[in-house]
Amino acid sequence: MRHLMSPLDFSVDELEKLFDLANDIEKNREKYSHACNGKKLATCFYEPSTRTRLSFESAMLSLGGSVLGFSDANSSSAAKGESVSDTIRMISCYADICAMRHPKEGAPMVASTHSRIPVINAGDGGHQHPTQTLTDLLTIRSLKGRLNNFTIGLCGDLKFGRTVHSLINALSRYDNITFIFVSPEELRIPEYITDNLKEQNIPYKEVISLEEVMPELDLLYMTRVQRERFFNEEDYVRLKDFYILNKEKMSLAKPDMLVLHPLPRVNEISVEVDDDERAVYFKQVQYGVYVRMALILTLLEIDVNSL
Ligand code: NCD
Repeated sequence: MRHLMSPLDFSVDELEKLFDLANDIEKNREKYSHACNGKKLATCFYEPSTRTRLSFESAMLSLGGSVLGFSDANSSSAAKGESVSDTIRMISCYADICAMRHPKEGAPMVASTHSRIPVINAGDGGHQHPTQTLTDLLTIRSLKGRLNNFTIGLCGDLKFGRTVHSLINALSRYDNITFIFVSPEELRIPEYITDNLKEQNIPYKEVISLEEVMPELDLLYMTRVQRERFFNEEDYVRLKDFYILNKEKMSLAKPDMLVLHPLPRVNEISVEVDDDERAVYFKQVQYGVYVRMALILTLLEIDVNSL
């Protein structure tokens, strides 16, 4: 039985297969619409989320399966003091697969070691968010036709943004990727990540000005300042509007640069950018459903060739 804790749990070849399956689902929705008949997905969300939880639910419903779960730690037995390992033992009796989001780093990993069903990490604290990364990779691959030879700018809260940490991890395995980290001093990318890049001889630079690097980028990954992970509100207020991507800044970019964002957006992308063809963050949401459908099929070991 397999779980998904980090995007590195799948080899590059396995990811290719997963993305091919996601692209086939995109083209042939009907073919997959009963693939998970009788199967149940549990969504155990100990931290607020609409997008990711609904994306999982939509994915399972589109496969003909059903969903159950909770969307708030206060409405689960965690409020009574139940441990994650006990909860997953119980969920293993109710469902065939589980997507878990938790504010504590490593909680889904603990759950997976006590589980009889596949567990998917749907975001653990400031650590990893592998299914968002699968979404990001599928979006890039589908729209650009490749996952190598890019200069990618990651901008905003690089300290707390788990989607950023997961994406760097995953992209590091492809050839000729250059990372440009754009953040205020206080929200710089953690050192363990840059140490890792150094060790692998992967080129990166850290800058404060987005305008300065805009013309170099093939991809721009914007992120929200992660308010819920700040220790004090004052710092959040000071940093929240540090970057605002607008039409003027977009005019500095390559004509085929893509703008991605895991959403939710707060102020970091002005709505005037939404109509720009290079803004693909809403397309990304749709790819997120396809890739989660492909992931559920893969972890449940459904034979897609017999559909
Ligand atoms: C991200 C997350 O939860 O980390 N959202 C998401 O899953 N789409 C990004 C964020 O909350 O800023």
